[in-house]
Amino acid sequence: MKVPVITIDGPSASGKGTVAACVASRLGFHYLDSGSLYRLVALYADRVGIDWDDEPALARAALTLPVAFCDGGVLLDGNEATEAIRAEHIGIGASRVGALPAVRTALMQRQRDFRVAPGLVTDGRDMGSVVFPDADLKIFLTASADERATRRYKQLIDKGESANLPQIRQDIIDRDQRDAARPVAPLRQEPDALLLDTTALTIDQAVEAVLSWFAAKSSDC
Ligand code: C5P
Repeated sequence: MKVPVITIDGPSASGKGTVAACVASRLGFHYLDSGSLYRLVALYADRVGIDWDDEPALARAALTLPVAFCDGGVLLDGNEATEAIRAEHIGIGASRVGALPAVRTALMQRQRDFRVAPGLVTDGRDMGSVVFPDADLKIFLTASADERATRRYKQLIDKGESANLPQIRQDIIDRDQRDAARPVAPLRQEPDALLLDTTALTIDQAVEAVLSWFAAKSSDC
């Protein structure tokens, strides 16, 4: 039997990861944060001295990267990497390595392997368009650049880190442009994806919207 998949794609700092993880937990499904794989490739490259433009070396690393997901965290080569992959410069590196076709191909099967019963909720940029084109429900989750910058700013301040709101806003806009302009798997709303604009929604409201769409789709079958 086909294992159900819900894909939630959208721009950076839109809250799609939080919404996707909550939906997965409410349904008892597995959860894949595909961005973490791109971030892990960038972090690994940074640590071992592979340039973020060295496509063949990055693709080889992406194929064999020793990663493990457990208890909401991630290990790289057996070492805790949950916080390290969230650093701003690693996000920029992830966007650089994610623009390389050979890296995307290398990560394809690793992502598909997460499709295990009873179901999967996944978030990223091309989950519905490329990795799981037959997904049961596809969502494009977004929010205004101002709202996303403010959310990211608050997250950093809450963690006790210094943050500069205009700089964060500019980084978000630059990253969106790079993700949308690349020739492979660009960031965009596909025709078969439902738009969920969370600018004025709470996380709970966004989660409920996804769950009700999924319930409606499931009752159609
Ligand atoms: O979602 P997150 O911000 O963690 O992703 C980091 C970067 O990884 C994105 O800016 C994007 O360039 C890349 N990415 C991607 N395809 C995905 C997930 C993330 O290209 N499915």
